[in-house]
Formats: sequence, structure tokens, C-alpha cells
Amino acid sequence: MLPCAPMNELPRHEAARALLHWYAEMGVDEAVGAAPADWFALSAATGQTSQLQRPAARPAAKPAPSEPRPAAVFTAGSGPLPADEAVILAQRAATAAADFEALAAAVAAFEHCPLKAGARSTVFADGVPGSDLLVIGEAPGRDEDLIGRPFVGRAGQLLDRMLAAIGRSRETNTLISNVIFWRPPGNRTPTQVEIAICKPFVERLIELTAPKAVLLAGGAPMGALLGLTGIMRARGTWRDIETQSGYRVPALPMFHPAFLLRQPSEKRLAWSDLLALEKRLIGS
Ligand code: URA
Repeated sequence: MLPCAPMNELPRHEAARALLHWYAEMGVDEAVGAAPADWFALSAATGQTSQLQRPAARPAAKPAPSEPRPAAVFTAGSGPLPADEAVILAQRAATAAADFEALAAAVAAFEHCPLKAGARSTVFADGVPGSDLLVIGEAPGRDEDLIGRPFVGRAGQLLDRMLAAIGRSRETNTLISNVIFWRPPGNRTPTQVEIAICKPFVERLIELTAPKAVLLAGGAPMGALLGLTGIMRARGTWRDIETQSGYRVPALPMFHPAFLLRQPSEKRLAWSDLLALEKRLIGS
């Protein structure tokens, strides 16, 4: 429980604890240095501008009043790129990849997702490419960002146990990925722009690895690949993913394991989804 007294009336250790708590609530969960730094003062002194202050690299044509202005994307190494251009570059890079390894390299080399600048690792996929099962989750969290592999934290360990219950593992017969390849700051929900930029790579992953079924872990991958909202109602029903090039594959939305950690009573429904998945994979 947070103290309600103003910060300057709290004992020092209580004030420090309250401040840390507030940082965590705001999504600040990692220290980048031993002492706090005023980055605004620093950039003013060196004449450098931060990513967010940097002026546009290209002169943007002023949109007509009725024209919706495309969201700007701040890339890791250059100036801002309009979101629609970033999506086009992602589509080109994804289409050019002829196999799984080339796609992994293309994702790692891609500089136009704004999340990349704040992430330690590109988290692409883990498991056996070409497996008949592809699991797609939301986005890397802290553990995944540190290790560089999807689903390695608590939710990932639960996912591994769930898959094991139907004879599946990333070591033998399953490939695991996400709709986002870089950790959103503070594990916030990815934006529609971030999802749109990563989507061509996700669709290409589906095409190149040709699974028999895709398990969509949570509302974010279900929204990104099936265009649906409302995981509580949509889970457990098979639908087809259709990629931009017209490739189709059956997909089953299921609760995200992180949700199941918070709501263990819903594991009953997740179990029935897993059994439906196993049935489809076995081919009966
Ligand atoms: N949650 C996800 O959706 N993906 C991960 O890789 C880890 C946690």
C-alpha cells in the first residue's frame, strides 16, 4: 500500500520506496546507470538531439486538411519514417526472404520498427522451423529481451508445460514466435503501428514454415492475424489466417499464458483448446 502523505513529509526510505513503486507503475523497470542523468541538459550541452527531438530527416509534404497524416516512426539509426513507409520496407524485406534463416536475418537487420531502439535483443523465433505447429504470442518481455528467445519467462514456462501436455515442445516439434520482435517499453501493449510494421515478417514466417495449425496465444496475435477482438468469446473457434499473398492456414485463438497465471480458473478452457489443437494436428 502506498503512503498518501506528500513525498516531502515522508521518511527518506519511505519516499525512495514510493518513488521506485511509481517508476515501476510507469514501466521504468531497468536502470541504465548508477546515477540519474538529465538527458535533456546533456543533449543541450553537446548540441545533440534525442531521437524524439530530432527534426524530420526528409521534408514532409504538408498533408491536405482532410488527409489523415501517417504516424511517424522513429528508426534506430536514422530520422523518422512515416509508418506506411516502414510497413512497405518490412513487406519488401519479408518477401525477399526465401527461407527461415533469411527471414530471421531480415528481421534482425530491420531498423524501422520504433521499438528496436529501446530493446536489447531482436526476439524472432525459437523451436523447430517447419514443425506442423506454430505458436504466436504477443511480444517479448523483460526475460525474452535479456535472453533473445520468445517465451522464456514465467508465462513461457507455463506455455512449455501446456504444450508438453499434448506432446509438444520447442526442442522437437513446435516453433514459437510473436507478432512483435522487440520488447515494448515497460511491457506495454504494442501499438497498431508497431504491429503493422512487424506483420509482414509474421505472415512470411507462416508462409515459409507452412505449419498445419497456428496457435494464437492471446488477443494481440488474434487481432493482428485474424482481425478479431474479444478473446473471451473468440477463443476455441478455428478460423483461417489469410496472408497478404493469399496463403491460408487454420488458426486457433487461445488465452495467453500470462492471463492464465493471473486467472488459473480459466485453465479449464485453455485445456479444451489444447485438446482441439492436438486433434487437428493428429489429423483426426
Ligand atoms: N509473452 C509473449 O506474448 N511473448 C513472449 O515471448 C513472452 C511473453
